[in-house]
Amino acid sequence: MEYSIKCIGLLTSGGDAPGMNAAVRAVTRTAIFNGIKVKAIYRGYKGLITGEIREFQTQDVSGIIGRGGTILKTARCEEFRTPEGRRTAYETMLREQIDALIVIGGDGTFTGARELAKEYNIPIVGVPGTIDNDLWGTDSTIGYDTALNTIMECVDKIRDTASSHERVFFVEVMGRDAGFLALNSALAAGAEAAIIPERKTPEEQLEAFIGNGLRKSKNSSIVIVAENPEIGGAQGLANTLKEKHPEYDVRVTILGHLQRGGSPTAYDRILASRMGVAAINALLEEQRNIMIGIKNDELVYVPFSKAIKDDKDVNPDSVQALQILAI
Ligand code: F6P
Repeated sequence: MEYSIKCIGLLTSGGDAPGMNAAVRAVTRTAIFNGIKVKAIYRGYKGLITGEIREFQTQDVSGIIGRGGTILKTARCEEFRTPEGRRTAYETMLREQIDALIVIGGDGTFTGARELAKEYNIPIVGVPGTIDNDLWGTDSTIGYDTALNTIMECVDKIRDTASSHERVFFVEVMGRDAGFLALNSALAAGAEAAIIPERKTPEEQLEAFIGNGLRKSKNSSIVIVAENPEIGGAQGLANTLKEKHPEYDVRVTILGHLQRGGSPTAYDRILASRMGVAAINALLEEQRNIMIGIKNDELVYVPFSKAIKDDKDVNPDSVQALQILAI
């Protein structure tokens, strides 16, 4: 019996991430390979509401595997959070004869997908695309490795000036509520500490750093701080250190959105390609309302509710390694 999905809608939503284009390419080509039409939806859920949609052929995704950002554009759509917004989106799907959706994004994207799927019984498959790596059920999200490498390169450069001036640097990185970028970029760049939301309070972590990290044997120190508006971010912690230890020459660097840009690493391109192919295969297997994950190099299907809600913790051995190696 022929499977009933004849046409999929494809969108990217939420914060862009390097490798989203590679995923768009993989989804598009795998769908066409299987005789399924692809309708590209622009600007995430916003485009599903306003009907900004165009059919894609294989050549529409030529030459994009190495491009950062997303050719489909992206947005955070408030209207889609409302039942009225989702109704309009559903009406667009009916009009465009879209039978299923592939959504590439993070937890906000999958929260919206779960609601739409529940209300209108639409098959939806998610592909995890976010630099934050904060989705449960996959070892890595698309874009995370590229962002880590970007941060590492920046921190290597900061080290040059930090050691020349014998300064303490606080470097703030993204991650929303998760410390993966902070912890692992700290390991990769040989930083002295990472202040992350998964462990104690930032103040306690700063105290521990002051106690252990600011050693006389080192002429510079770099602390990677996971963004946290409540503590005034890296600047807030730097101010606290300056108050307690005016003898230290302290500087702050906020890396900001440069962490989201750039050509994806080989790792992210491969991840995106495998996950994009798997997303269409999952639909063909009649899977629905799942995110594609890769655990221990094996493809897995993760229900949206688990991917979004279950807390993914940082690796305790990575936390310990950072402490040991910072001496
Ligand atoms: O989720 C990706 C992310 O880059 C977070 O790390 C960060 O908190 C947020 O998006 C920033 O969002 P915006 O680009 O809308 O300011």
